[in-house]
Amino acid sequence: MKVELVNRVQPTLEPSDHPYLNGAHTPLLEEVNAIDLGVIEGRIPADIDGVYIRNTQNQIHQPLGRYHPFDGDGMVHAISFRNGKADYRNRFVRTKGMAAEAEANGSLWAGLMEDPRKAKRPGWGAHGSIKDASSTDVVVHAGQVLSTYYQCGEGYRLHPYTLDNYGTEAWTPLDGISAHPKVDERTGELLFFNYSKYPPYMHYGVVDKNNKLVHYTPVPLPGPRLPHDMIFSEHYSILNDCPLFWDPDLLKQGKHVVRFFKDVPTRFAVIPRYGKAEDIKWFEAAPTFVLHFLNAYEEGDEIVMDGYFQEDPMPPSRNDVPKGYERMMSYLDQHMMRTKLHRWRFNLKTGQTIERRIDERVLEFGMINQKYAGRKYRYCYSAVQKPGWFLFSGLVKHDVDTGESWEVQFGPDRYGSEAPFAPRIGAKDEDDGYLVSFITDEKAGTSECLLIDSKKFAQGPVCRIRLPHKMSSGTHATWANGDEIRSGKLYQAA
Ligand SMILES: [Fe+2]
Repeated sequence: MKVELVNRVQPTLEPSDHPYLNGAHTPLLEEVNAIDLGVIEGRIPADIDGVYIRNTQNQIHQPLGRYHPFDGDGMVHAISFRNGKADYRNRFVRTKGMAAEAEANGSLWAGLMEDPRKAKRPGWGAHGSIKDASSTDVVVHAGQVLSTYYQCGEGYRLHPYTLDNYGTEAWTPLDGISAHPKVDERTGELLFFNYSKYPPYMHYGVVDKNNKLVHYTPVPLPGPRLPHDMIFSEHYSILNDCPLFWDPDLLKQGKHVVRFFKDVPTRFAVIPRYGKAEDIKWFEAAPTFVLHFLNAYEEGDEIVMDGYFQEDPMPPSRNDVPKGYERMMSYLDQHMMRTKLHRWRFNLKTGQTIERRIDERVLEFGMINQKYAGRKYRYCYSAVQKPGWFLFSGLVKHDVDTGESWEVQFGPDRYGSEAPFAPRIGAKDEDDGYLVSFITDEKAGTSECLLIDSKKFAQGPVCRIRLPHKMSSGTHATWANGDEIRSGKLYQAA
């Protein structure tokens, strides 16, 4: 492995005992290129070609008040595979917020847990005074990485292999782009949504394979909402209005207090891919909040949609944690929210919803073979969370047809990242390929990349690849096939 240090960012962050600024969440401040990675175990498979890309949060400056792990600056990590060799690079997403704070040599915006009025500059997005850290999600569309922020930022473009920063996406609407835009690999389209505090409160859009915004339409909601994800089937996109939102009476007084309205149904908007507000069919379902969906597909008169149902979207605060972090620690604990794999069926003829639990275990952050996105599928891969912590201790593969499942644990003090599916070159089956995950080993103080053969899931990793530094935990990741990247319109050869 040949490692080149590209840059090291100078922090103003002071040492603390913050639970999410230490251990597996210690910010990483160096950017490197590591060529020709070596293995700890197994052999780098020659039958995958593409790149696994991961977004993490890395706080650089001393926060203005309390820090939440979703506040840190976005850093993208990429491991690329071709011909049995692998390279790794990591780069900060060079956001406008990061540049402004570098110039000021300190934080300019308060985070998710603080009063937004503490911000020293106006912000962006749903909250209005928060930094667009571009640290939440990452997809590859039109041959380039698109990095996004959950509170509707601008969207930043990077080269999928070199991670060179190309700046903000030009078609970003005034209300920004939420995290979790979706790429339909069959058409090359990017489907996205945003949300704001002002009527109509939500918009939905389509960007074509040439990166042109070709559709943008309001999705009128009864008031400001806090959606996080969307999903699509072959002909429809599905947006949501979950009953977890700012208390409308307190909001009139300028107070942002989130409440779960347990007697208000969840509503799902089913909109044709190029539909307008008047084409939306609304479906009611049991009250919940859905952080992430897995997939949706059409079957006869129905749309089948899978995701993670929260049994308690507003769990009680923890009282066994450092003062000031009682709420944060419970909201980051999926075992307190009880997030369960769930299936909704929307009947387009009758307007009825039928729903059922697929599994009673606490699971979230699911992945599928993206070639099956929007189509009938059979296999999904969920992350198992360490109780009490925003850390993944293992993975579960489900056969949603038979209900069968298989589990892999990463081992003590080892935490993985979201594990997308990398199809084997020439794969004929949906599960013919590898799950890819970055592991942070807390005891060893190192990181590695795991490959799990999906056909032999329960046997654990078939390859462990050494990485040049210990990385911070983060939120989302993606896989993009090399041939799709190379044929992408925005791709520029390194
Ligand atoms: Fe997310």
